[in-house]
Amino acid sequence: MLKIGIIGAGRIGKVHLESISYHVKNATVVAVADPFMNDETRAFIEGFGVAKITTDYHELLNDPEIDAVLVCSSTDTHAAISIEAVNAGKHVFCEKPVDHSTEKIRAVADALAAHPTIKFQVGFNRRFDHNFAAVRRAYDEGKIGDAHILKITSRDPAPPNPTYIKVSGGIFLDMTIHDFDMATFLTNSDVEEVYVESAVLVDPAIGEQGDVDTAIISMKMANGALAVIDNSRRAAYGYDQRAELFGSKGMVATSNDTVSSAVISDENGVTGEKPLYFFLERYMESFSEEMRQFVDACENDKPTPVGIHAGLQSVKIGLAAKKSVAEHRPVKLSEID
Ligand SMILES: NC(=O)c1ccc[n+]([C@@H]2O[C@H](COP(=O)([O-])OP(=O)(O)OC[C@H]3O[C@@H](n4cnc5c(N)ncnc54)[C@H](O)[C@@H]3O)[C@@H](O)[C@H]2O)c1
Repeated sequence: MLKIGIIGAGRIGKVHLESISYHVKNATVVAVADPFMNDETRAFIEGFGVAKITTDYHELLNDPEIDAVLVCSSTDTHAAISIEAVNAGKHVFCEKPVDHSTEKIRAVADALAAHPTIKFQVGFNRRFDHNFAAVRRAYDEGKIGDAHILKITSRDPAPPNPTYIKVSGGIFLDMTIHDFDMATFLTNSDVEEVYVESAVLVDPAIGEQGDVDTAIISMKMANGALAVIDNSRRAAYGYDQRAELFGSKGMVATSNDTVSSAVISDENGVTGEKPLYFFLERYMESFSEEMRQFVDACENDKPTPVGIHAGLQSVKIGLAAKKSVAEHRPVKLSEID
């Protein structure tokens, strides 16, 4: 039984607590740390029978009973806490992104290299989504042939509060980072070059924060494939998450998940359900699956499915995308760092 401590009890920390408690065998959450613990959060955590609740994550790192920690705190704390945890001998699951700076991510990689028995996984949960996993499986099985064109549609149902934009690192390091990881996952290739066309079409307040809310991103993959991601911070009909991989032998495409597949036909037309509302609804099962695989890697000494290389690559692509917007030109990944 893997004994887990969760660092950061915000939105995603609570998701992992719930999913481990209900859906992950061979693991139990024994402690949660958050410096801003309030009564509501404490009651939520106590509801899962967690023994230790503290405001200081060092208590978790110093606890010999704890085998692994989940770093679910704000992004700017991920790298430093991960390094401390690795040095304390804990396996680490770190939420995305590992950091906004490649230098800090490399420092995490260095700590891991010095502790080869420690497992490290980045929270790119979409790899474990049943639809996207099926796309990669079809590619791995040779059904698509060589990858030629990847199309990812990724549109949120509603933009975040503009005050969040600045701390989040902007659309590319916060939202599109999942799509960048998905592009490398679905084509099984790194990215070589990025070019972005972008606009502020959803909320002028986002533009005032120096960010964009609408983007078309073209990428050249290292294996020769071309990829395009389209992003919007607001789709009127809900969370739009689709992918299509086209290759020399065929194509595989996914559609959105809905509450039901019922289609109603009447005198006004033919209508179906809207997509599931947002990531908590759409990706809940993927959060459980990524955790099951992390626990399996720790318990059975296997490599984790999403390591520090993926953590670094996704941020490099995000930084290249930002540079492409700023300089309005294609940017090679080799220019980043
Ligand atoms: N994989 C996903 O789909 C996904 C979804 C949401 C968030 N995230 C990532 O998870 C991280 C947290 O996001 P969130 O939405 O849960 O934010 P949040 O603001 O709801 O929660 C963050 C929590 O971390 C706590 N915290 C801050 N500093 C801390 C420290 N030093 N030690 C312990 N706790 C600390 C805060 O008090 C807060 O409760 C972000 O990096 C975000 O990018 C990933």
